[in-house]
Amino acid sequence: MKTEQHNKTLSSSKAIILRITKPAAYFILLLLTYTLGYLSSPSSPTSSLSPNHVSSTILRVSNHTSAELNSFRVTTQCSDPIPPEKIRRTVIDRVFDGTSPFHDFPPEHATAMLERTTKVKGWGSNGAVFENLIRKVKPRVIVEVGTFLGASAIHMAELTHRFGLKTQILCIDDFRGWTGFRDHFKNIAMLNGDVLLYYQFLQNVAFFNQTGSVLPLPFSSGSALNQLCDWGVFADLVEIDAGHDFLSAWADVNRGFRILRPGGVIFGHDYFTTADNKGVRRAVDLFAQIHNLRVRIDGQHWVIYTT
Ligand SMILES: C[S@@+](CC[C@H](N)C(=O)[O-])C[C@H]1O[C@@H](n2cnc3c(N)ncnc32)[C@H](O)[C@@H]1O
Ligand SMILES: *[C@@H]1O[C@H](CO)[C@@H](O)[C@H](O)[C@H]1NC(C)=O
Ligand SMILES: *[C@@H]1O[C@H](CO)[C@@H](O)[C@H](O)[C@H]1NC(C)=O
Repeated sequence: MKTEQHNKTLSSSKAIILRITKPAAYFILLLLTYTLGYLSSPSSPTSSLSPNHVSSTILRVSNHTSAELNSFRVTTQCSDPIPPEKIRRTVIDRVFDGTSPFHDFPPEHATAMLERTTKVKGWGSNGAVFENLIRKVKPRVIVEVGTFLGASAIHMAELTHRFGLKTQILCIDDFRGWTGFRDHFKNIAMLNGDVLLYYQFLQNVAFFNQTGSVLPLPFSSGSALNQLCDWGVFADLVEIDAGHDFLSAWADVNRGFRILRPGGVIFGHDYFTTADNKGVRRAVDLFAQIHNLRVRIDGQHWVIYTT
């Protein structure tokens, strides 16, 4: 969102400049754009997106001393872990007043507004990384940060069944999407300015018969991850796919890592996205450096093992 504001400021200053004289304006604009891009980018200004450049990004952050980086750590200790089989009940009791959000779903007023479809829109939601990690880790608990319509969550639920696992998948999302997302998702109904993303997510999970293994946590990623930490809810797999700017990704990766069971795997989408000057990648690389962990690549995803 910050990036959008930044872009808007940039385009209004473009308009002013263009009114002066065209050739001079183009030169100033070029210089300005380059300078701004250069100043706001701690990584290489030549935007190479190939995995070969991963190690060079890691090198670039390795100048900071560990003392400097200490202040970025998330250090609060979580409560003692509760048994995985108690997690579903705990969430239903503490978040949903004891009644599953899928109970008596959909409510009458929403029934006609929801789509029932096997085509759930997502991004890289069926990537091989999900199968690779679920096969390897055999997770009892998965926490997904950024769920949208549930495409990746449903895919993971299907995989866990296929491998005979009993896995609880917790889906953290504020179900607000992002400003302007509805330009591309007109089919998601709106009621008094409230986009029915949460209801459509529930409907998708129900349509795919996954209500027994998936539960939403309809809050901002920060508060939900803090809450899980407080309750002692730990995960074997944590997937990060919410805000793609540095600050969002940084907060989510740190808070997600904190609720990772020893030996668990944290991974996330869009390592190669250019959003916010590769915000996700800068956050993940910096995190890995501080914790002396290695970033691996699987398709569009980054993966960090803790063993
Ligand atoms: C790219 S989509 C997730 C896609 C999903 N993983 C898939 O593959 O289908 C990002 C989601 O993150 C959510 N999101 C963004 N920032 C958030 C925040 N601070 N707290 C909670 N959810 C957030 C948005 O509502 C959106 O649904
Ligand atoms: C950062 O590290 C690189 C590679 O190790 C080195 O060439 C460079 O001089 C360092 N820069 C600073 C400001 O210390
Ligand atoms: C869900 O279960 C019903 C009833 O068993 C079945 O007819 C339907 O095909 C299933 N839906 C999906 C998407 O697998």
